[in-house]
Amino acid sequence: MIVSKKVETWVKEWSDLCQPDAIHYCDGSEMENQKLLDMMVSTGMAIKLNEAKRPGSYYFQSDPSDVARVENRTFICSARKDDAGPTNNWMDPAEMKKILTEEYRGCMKGRTMYVIPFSMGPLGSKIAHIGIQITDSPYVVVNMRIMTRMGKAVLDILGDGDFVPCIHSVGAPLQPGQKDVKWPCAPIEKKYISHFPDTNETWSFGSGYGGNALLGKKCFALRIASNMAHREGWLAEHMLIMGITNPQGVKRYVAAAFPSACGKTNLAMLIPNIPGWKVETVGDDIAWMKFGADGRLYAINPEAGFFGVAPFTSMETNPNAMLSCKANSIFTNTGLTPDGDIWWEGIGSEIPEGTITWTNDIYNKESGKPAAHPNARFTAPAKQCPVIDKDWENPNGVPISAFLFGGRRPGTVPLVYQSFDWNHGVFMGSIVGSEVTAAAIGLKAGVRRDPFAMLPFCGYHMGDYFGHWVNIGNNAPDVSKLPKIFNVNWFRKGPDGKFLWPGYGDNIRVLKWIFERVEGTAGATETPIGLIPEKESINISGLSGVADKMDDILKVNQKEWLDECELIAEHQAQFGDRLPKEMSEQFENLKSRLNG
Ligand code: GTP
Ligand code: SPV
Ligand code: MN
Repeated sequence: MIVSKKVETWVKEWSDLCQPDAIHYCDGSEMENQKLLDMMVSTGMAIKLNEAKRPGSYYFQSDPSDVARVENRTFICSARKDDAGPTNNWMDPAEMKKILTEEYRGCMKGRTMYVIPFSMGPLGSKIAHIGIQITDSPYVVVNMRIMTRMGKAVLDILGDGDFVPCIHSVGAPLQPGQKDVKWPCAPIEKKYISHFPDTNETWSFGSGYGGNALLGKKCFALRIASNMAHREGWLAEHMLIMGITNPQGVKRYVAAAFPSACGKTNLAMLIPNIPGWKVETVGDDIAWMKFGADGRLYAINPEAGFFGVAPFTSMETNPNAMLSCKANSIFTNTGLTPDGDIWWEGIGSEIPEGTITWTNDIYNKESGKPAAHPNARFTAPAKQCPVIDKDWENPNGVPISAFLFGGRRPGTVPLVYQSFDWNHGVFMGSIVGSEVTAAAIGLKAGVRRDPFAMLPFCGYHMGDYFGHWVNIGNNAPDVSKLPKIFNVNWFRKGPDGKFLWPGYGDNIRVLKWIFERVEGTAGATETPIGLIPEKESINISGLSGVADKMDDILKVNQKEWLDECELIAEHQAQFGDRLPKEMSEQFENLKSRLNG
């Protein structure tokens, strides 16, 4: 492999500090991948799944302390504290680098340092960006190979150009003769997921799991990229991208932002429950968007794989996800069946006798402990998705017609509503709330504000981020071509505590209304919060027991929304004078419509 002087110098600097036993430049080949997997099987870190049932697939159990993102150990180290804003943890960049330099010193002793060149976005796309991750985790290497375009081809394109440096160590050096554990990591107070937006760097220490360790994903493609996008006038968002085709063959793309574990993967590959409609997947987690020459906003999926929530994914709820991970996939913290396959709660079959849990115990129903951790995940190549869109790797991206925001709201928020205009839509995104999920460790249960589903991922001041969205509207080459904006809520509950809306494949009924609003063919009723469907414009044919509930499903209750306004006031107050005036105006307008 030809490595530029720049890369070589950088690797030398880090290997001098981390002191690995060996350095390995990843070429991304099949042979390299297999060698790493075989090595992990031989050391007991991985288990090869039954080749007949789950070809080319491997099973991992993490340390019980290292099972999800750690938001209280995630830092935005901008030069000025103000620029990180009230929703991020901040530390002075020099101070953080000093602390971490000491942590990194000798941290790879007894291990190999892997150098992973990767592209976020199709190789050579103008919207794509190249990063290089250094890591001492072979698990990270095999995951990055699925999640990104990785290896030699990336270095060839990079030449001696610039890259986003991503440093990662599990923070568990080995003394001579010391036996490695199955999942090395550092204790929580030694974990640091830190970002240096002024120099486009990510330094992560102490965790081997998910977004903490696969640095192309949340660290680069959202926290660093949101800064790049802010500076350069584009968008880096926590959004799925999907194509929807109506029975007449008209196709539109939409992008949707829901908080972690709130249904992006499920929506992105949904199988429509009404005939004639088709859904195709471009991405399930992240979208990078820029205006095209025709004045429309174009989106690419910077990733190449899915790192999906396993529990409750089944052939009933999300067959396309199940089929995506039927081979060549990695499973982390699921259960392991005696015949060498995976199992999780809600997979749709009885748990086989003798299944091993994610904590490596034999499953015991009485214990009340699940077989799979609630944040157990599969890592699967996107190209294996049966409904992957033909343009999912188009370097120019796909044109977006609508944005959807949403979260888990047991009350208050109707199934769907549309914004009156762009700035009202930005306001809708800015006030999204959601019940917290297992995707991050240590959060207080209940509804929290998660604006644009970016609370844990916006790499700068959230008030400025709202302003950036306002500016995207102001600077649009053609306002009439801006995506229309909607809010959805699949999670409203009835008095019995059950979801009112069936969700999953029936969400196409809501997408159909959205599609027809974009086309200008569906009706809407004005409410104080926005435009909701006229009752008959949501097709519920074939759904039993839903007709009676439609009023509750679409209800906009004045009292509930006045209560919500108190929460919005608190939420907005934290941004001080960095809350764009357009957002205060939108809030005033909402209150006066509610009181009017
Ligand atoms: P991240 O990968 O963490 O960003 O999550 P995600 O937004 O992709 O969420 P995902 O699609 O994996 O869904 C998370 C959970 O929500 C799963 O347990 C799903 O079963 C559940 N879920 C998804 N869609 C629906 C729906 O329409 N209705 C209901 N009731 N549950 C849903
Ligand atoms: C999320 O938490 O939004 C995820 C999983 O998509 S992780 O990659 O761990 O961030
Ligand atoms: Mn996510």
